[in-house]
Amino acid sequence: MHETAYQRVGGEAAIRQLVARFYELMDELPEAYAARKIHSQDLGPASEKFVMFLSGWLGGPQLYVEKFGHPMLRRRHLPYPIGPQERDEWLLCMRLALDDTIADAELRGQLYAALLPIADHMMNRGGGSCSCHRTETA
Ligand code: HEM
Repeated sequence: MHETAYQRVGGEAAIRQLVARFYELMDELPEAYAARKIHSQDLGPASEKFVMFLSGWLGGPQLYVEKFGHPMLRRRHLPYPIGPQERDEWLLCMRLALDDTIADAELRGQLYAALLPIADHMMNRGGGSCSCHRTETA
């Protein structure tokens, strides 16, 4: 039977480790300060939501959708100013967290590659790569 990415990473326990490490790095790294600054003081609720989202995104239980409905990620990120700097810092934390918590290098690379375009899509400042929501004409 075809194994889901959720199974390959190691299920909910592994996702929890990844997310915990991700926000720990964001909290500690000076290089992630701009991304950290736009988050709430308490990273607990964001961590919980990210775990729930990744569970469904990786093909496991749709915990986020069941509780909050369609993710509409871009729309939910609009209150937070996200430009190239914040995107890069977010991706840095994610790359390091993947390195620290996912042993399989191929899987790690696949996950990072799949997250890249989503992170790009979250940009709402500073000329993101997404042209569909830009007000200025290209
Ligand atoms: C591009 C860089 C990104 C930045 C700077 C960013 C920043 C944020 C911030 C500030 C929040 C609110 C957290 C709070 O309550 O304090 C948030 C929520 C969230 N982010 Fe991101 N994010 C980024 C990319 C992503 C990506 C790529 C994903 C998914 C793959 C994602 C998934 C989520 C989810 C699921 C939530 C919770 C949404 C909700 O229900 O309110 N984010 N993010």
